[in-house]
Amino acid sequence: MAFDIDMIKGVYANMAERVDKAREIVGKPLTLSEKILYSHLWDGNPSKAFTRGKDYVDFAPDRIACQDATAQMALLQFMQAGKPKVAVPTTVHCDHLIQAKSGAVSDLKVANSTSAEVFNFLESVSNKYGIGFWKPGAGIIHQVVLENYAFPGGMMIGTDSHTVNAGGLGMVAIGVGGADAVDVMAGMAWELKFPKLIGVKLTGNISGWTSAKDVILKVAGILTVKGGTGAIVEYFGEGAKNLSCTGKGTICNMGAEVGATTSTFGYDESMERYLRATDRNDVADAANQVKEYLTADAEVYANPEQYFDEVIEINLDELRPHLNGPFTPDLATPVGELGEKAKANDWPLKVEWGLIGSCTNSSYEDLTRAASIAKQAVDKKIKPKSDFGINPGSEQIRFTAERDGILEIFENLGATIFTNACGPCIGQWDRSDAKGDEKNTIVHSFNRNFSKRADGNPNTHAFVGSPEMVAAIAISGRLDFDPMNDTLLNEDGEEVKLDMPLGIELPPKGFAVEDAGFLAPDADGSGVEVKVSPESERLQLLEPFTPIKDESLMGAKLLIKAFGKCTTDHISMAGPWLRFRGHLDNISNNCLIGAVNAFGKKTNFVKNQLTGEFAGVPDTARAYKAAGVRSIVVGDHNYGEGSSREHAAMEPRHLGVAAVIVKSFARIHETNLKKQGMLGLTFANEADYDLVQEDDTFNFIDIAEFAPDKQLTLELVHADGSKDVIKLNHTYNQPQIDWYREGSALNVIKKENVA
Ligand code: F3S
Repeated sequence: MAFDIDMIKGVYANMAERVDKAREIVGKPLTLSEKILYSHLWDGNPSKAFTRGKDYVDFAPDRIACQDATAQMALLQFMQAGKPKVAVPTTVHCDHLIQAKSGAVSDLKVANSTSAEVFNFLESVSNKYGIGFWKPGAGIIHQVVLENYAFPGGMMIGTDSHTVNAGGLGMVAIGVGGADAVDVMAGMAWELKFPKLIGVKLTGNISGWTSAKDVILKVAGILTVKGGTGAIVEYFGEGAKNLSCTGKGTICNMGAEVGATTSTFGYDESMERYLRATDRNDVADAANQVKEYLTADAEVYANPEQYFDEVIEINLDELRPHLNGPFTPDLATPVGELGEKAKANDWPLKVEWGLIGSCTNSSYEDLTRAASIAKQAVDKKIKPKSDFGINPGSEQIRFTAERDGILEIFENLGATIFTNACGPCIGQWDRSDAKGDEKNTIVHSFNRNFSKRADGNPNTHAFVGSPEMVAAIAISGRLDFDPMNDTLLNEDGEEVKLDMPLGIELPPKGFAVEDAGFLAPDADGSGVEVKVSPESERLQLLEPFTPIKDESLMGAKLLIKAFGKCTTDHISMAGPWLRFRGHLDNISNNCLIGAVNAFGKKTNFVKNQLTGEFAGVPDTARAYKAAGVRSIVVGDHNYGEGSSREHAAMEPRHLGVAAVIVKSFARIHETNLKKQGMLGLTFANEADYDLVQEDDTFNFIDIAEFAPDKQLTLELVHADGSKDVIKLNHTYNQPQIDWYREGSALNVIKKENVA
């Protein structure tokens, strides 16, 4: 099932020559990130030094991983590319489509029945095209990747923004849209703007209540959700070496929350221990042979300011546990200070749920640290005041944790053990309490806490913390509880204190599993038939997009001017909509329904300029499309932050939107718009956002001269006939302009195949 050791040895065999050559060309010592990037160039040996944050570079990733929600559209697209097999080792993981409700056994049974069509489709496409298939219940994609496929010095892409988790094993692992994955599956290069580099020096040691999670909660507070955009975050220092491999994974995982391209750590003993514990002695042995290439040159970490674009230093001895939130993962507050902040902001202090799991924090170490707190509650007769839900990261972890009595500890506390899957982290949660829109507070060990993310309720205040802190807060039932200083009243009326958590890095008896849930593909899948019913409401074979004609960009209408935060969850909501991820027309009915309209400040309520009536965004877009009128979306800063889902680009494209014009983009979403043959543009002058009015008509007067490094000119015609002419920036290079001109990147691949 597992990793391809020959492929890994092949990467290591090239590494020395390529890294040495890169060092010579760049003319200075190299960071780890640069070593991995320069040793994965599509053209093989480096021949020039790239400018960070500027040059687009073609790479050759070693692996691809897809989760079930994004794999549907990615594989529907790959089927269009006309290839017999994927060109690069690829796996599909069924983890997003399983709702958490009553517990693992019954929830999995329900998912296997309600999503049978989708799982069967993914299994048969995987079998046909040489893709490894991880069944529902096998685990969360990033935990399974860390346990089986990630390797130091490797490069992978994945159709999920938390693919970055594999940085915990020293990879450069990057979340992409399905369209990017399709390029690589089809044997093409993968293009990325050469990232900037942020160095994070960790001094001191993690101890007591502070955990690896708190490192990234602190970093998120420093960098904010935009601070890592376009950059790789490279961690180093003594403090880094003292973290476990899965702890490093947690830190890298939430690098997605600061917008970073990815995050990584140099190869060290914690990684070697993890590789050996997960039955990969040969990978550890191979990595040990090329150790010096799997970390930065010594001079880099000695004088980081000279080699990174930005350096942050965190002293782990002084780092306090944090809870970040609500509604954004960068609102960082040390645990002892949260009570006052909550009172000032009127956040409910009573905590309803504590959720432990997600790809961020579901390792063996995480579960044991949280269990050490849970056990104290039972032993010290403290009745937990909140409900508990646990999602183990993989079947291997669940099986091992059950064998070692860890799950029993949570069960003794009344916790529900959900399926080894994403569950509440992606809104797949049939919450047994608070069904309405009541204001309430939950704490979880996940990565994201955007409004409505876990339970669809905009009034749920979700706070992100380490699993052990989540356990402590949930036991106390209060957001202002500080387990380091406060006591709790037990059932005998005694004041008791929770001792600090104790975790076990790796299972002393080793990992164990009976059925990991993996299906290897047929060696020759040419005879496998992939069926999609034309009547299906969940799957739909794709039709190629037709190019946007220049003349249709004269007289385009404003669809929505999004106000404030507009993440991919606002553009293409998850939760109940996940069921339509393989059916473009049906899922387009959620297009931008979560975005706040700048005019009137309501969601899913926009003006149809043709009729003067107000309606939902998808209906209005369909009305423009039916009338042959192109529509335009306008947005604020960091538009499209969050997930890598290309649905957030395909839906507006399907509904006739020609351009998205914003103050700034999140990287993956901007690329996704380009891949789908749309215009993703930014205001040259941010203040021009304010010029856009509700009844505006858009004329792209020089679109015929669309070219790299050349601004576009937009004429805004307002309802009273007055005009504003503004400049728009873009980051399209020539091949990306070709995607636009051909209607999509996939149209270009197909054309090249035919040629
Ligand atoms: Fe799943 Fe949440 Fe991770 S949706 S992949 S557990 S971020």
